[in-house]
Amino acid sequence: MLKSTMELSDSFGRIAKKLRISVTDRCNMRCVYCMPHNNTSWLNQKNILAFDQITSLARIFASLGIEKIKITGGEPLVRDNIRSLISSLSSIEGIISISMTTNGLLLKDKLTGLKEAGLDSINISLDTFDHRRFKLMSGIDGLDTVMSSIKLAVSQNIRVKINTVIMRGWNDDEISEFVKFSKKMGCPVKFIEFMPLDGTRIWSENLVVSEDEMIKKINNNFGKLSPLDNDKADPARLYRFNEGNATIGFIPTITKPFCQDCDRVRITADGKLHTCLFEKENYDLKALLDQGKSNEDIREYIRKCVMEKPEGIIKIIRTHSLKPGLNNMHTIGG
Ligand code: 5AD
Ligand code: SF4
Repeated sequence: MLKSTMELSDSFGRIAKKLRISVTDRCNMRCVYCMPHNNTSWLNQKNILAFDQITSLARIFASLGIEKIKITGGEPLVRDNIRSLISSLSSIEGIISISMTTNGLLLKDKLTGLKEAGLDSINISLDTFDHRRFKLMSGIDGLDTVMSSIKLAVSQNIRVKINTVIMRGWNDDEISEFVKFSKKMGCPVKFIEFMPLDGTRIWSENLVVSEDEMIKKINNNFGKLSPLDNDKADPARLYRFNEGNATIGFIPTITKPFCQDCDRVRITADGKLHTCLFEKENYDLKALLDQGKSNEDIREYIRKCVMEKPEGIIKIIRTHSLKPGLNNMHTIGG
């Protein structure tokens, strides 16, 4: 079959439609499942893509069929003036939505500007409702700040989702609290299985709470969950309750990997293309920009790289190769 030249397809027949752009590897939190606690060697500032370089790359990706962009980090809002980046990205032809993943610490003052610039939706991370535990899990005494950011975001005309990483023995006793919160706030919580993307290298299978286990717990307390018709390309598996119209979601990367439907590629803050979250292999797009390569050359290079996209974590699991610290989430972006 003749493939459209507009498409970014790989050798498994998957077509990339979403681009995740990490704008910094730095963060004002130190989550246990993410950031190394010490010896963090940050990317060299002089290697970080400037906003106009990010926009040029995004334009090339859009010409290759990318439709949705997610801004990630580290924590994207520690980088100055993200609203101007969003504003440039939102004017790119073919880009139909822009979202951001944030820890919420700096969101309150920036939200209005981000929305005005064209941000359509926002994922805010929250792993516990307990102050002491929040400090333990994130390194920061920030629960009240994040809560007020969530409340503000929910009150505004922007889609909000909560990202919750569940870890056995850390916060798995709060699943019901999260469900109640989701119902009360009217915004979906996405429960994420703990992935071996931990700079802290504490990951082990024992710490992973599976989607099935979480659903059992929720069914016992809230009545049976019914699956919603899922968009196959969305890693979140969505459910609704029998009563009310609240929905919750799960990202069961470890126990039900969804690699066959993956439509995502990523670029790091220093301009490396990663075609899979779990592979260290990457391709240096910044070098091409710095060498003044034409858009056409960069486009062709990206197409070749994506064609090489590996099968994904599903293969790593199949070959019993799961181990802590497969990649650093704070560098590669969520
Ligand atoms: N496992 C699962 N999710 C993670 N995140 C970061 N590290 C991990 C991990 N090891 C997710 C969290 C965080 C977002 C930026 O990425 O939801 O909020
Ligand atoms: Fe920072 Fe997000 Fe990593 Fe937490 S998960 S340390 S908030 S980048």
